[in-house]
Amino acid sequence: MQLYLAPLQGYTEFLFRNAYARHFGGIDHAIAPFLPSGLGATVKHRRIRDLWKEHNEKLSVDPQILGKSAPEIVPVAKYLFDYGYDTLNINMGCPIPTIRAKMRGSGILAYPEMVEMLLEKLFNDLQNKISLKIRLGNESAEEIKELLPIINQFPIKELIIHPRIGTQMYEGTVDLAAFSWCVAHAKAPLVYSGDIFDLNTYRKLRAQFPGINRWMIGRGLLFSPFLPEIIKKDDCKWVKTEYHRFWEFHSDLEEQILTFRDRPKNQLNKLKEYWRYYAQAFQDSKQIFYQISRVDDIEDYRKVVNEIRKKSIWKAGLTETDQFRFMKSL
Ligand SMILES: Cc1cc2nc3c(=O)[nH]c(=O)nc-3n(C[C@H](O)[C@H](O)[C@H](O)COP(=O)(O)O)c2cc1C
Repeated sequence: MQLYLAPLQGYTEFLFRNAYARHFGGIDHAIAPFLPSGLGATVKHRRIRDLWKEHNEKLSVDPQILGKSAPEIVPVAKYLFDYGYDTLNINMGCPIPTIRAKMRGSGILAYPEMVEMLLEKLFNDLQNKISLKIRLGNESAEEIKELLPIINQFPIKELIIHPRIGTQMYEGTVDLAAFSWCVAHAKAPLVYSGDIFDLNTYRKLRAQFPGINRWMIGRGLLFSPFLPEIIKKDDCKWVKTEYHRFWEFHSDLEEQILTFRDRPKNQLNKLKEYWRYYAQAFQDSKQIFYQISRVDDIEDYRKVVNEIRKKSIWKAGLTETDQFRFMKSL
């Protein structure tokens, strides 16, 4: 069984991936957050900074691109191939309304003929192996019934499915009946992605889909970085003596962010963003998130974090069914 780190734009870029890999195990492979398409015919190396080899020695990673047409994608794909990335992941799942409206991300899923044209061009023009990250559709899970036969015509390296539809964003539940249909009909190896927040959920999914052996974890890992190890060990009891690793990881990432990002305001905002997720690992998550959101300089940030460290009670990963309740804003 392999565990993949999901691409989470704004969170799982190389600083995070490296700090994570220094302090936690369990993740075998990552998909990088998407590069915007249309970087131009001549790609500037600094635009792919997240993928520089020297930034990716710790964890194997596939680049991802968000685009709807071959002319946008091909120059970047060729650049990445020549640079040493043999696989390219195409994002056909992003649910952000402004992106969907431009037929990108999950927006393209409503147009199977566009998907077909795009894949035809990519398989013709590129040497890269192609993997896809999709949802079940843009507006309806019925769309997958038309899409999958099209996708099946191509030698896709792997097909990552987040079983929601685009208009759902992250609301509601994953549609396991529709995913089950995909399992029965997909030719490419499948990767499951969605709402794995605790050991019990993973166990249930594993029991329901015994043929799947690649699982992707996104928000659950930001919530509890221990989750991949918990899943690999099929046990969570050991976590209670190891919280200190979260704090070590936190300090490491903080240092990286302070080193690599230039303006103090940007540094602070980046640090605070992670607490949208980290906060949920603690019993008083709302209070913690509120305190962090009010911080306005790094000294203050450190003070609040220290208080949390001393006083707050960690709850994530302590039981097999820890429930991850997102704040409405996530
Ligand atoms: C903040 C955020 C950013 C995301 N960025 C990307 C991205 O760049 N590319 C992508 O394919 N999916 C992206 N996703 C979707 C995740 O990769 C994943 O499929 C989704 O969150 C469901 O998995 P999870 O429940 O394990 O988080 C993003 C999701 C979130 C919440």
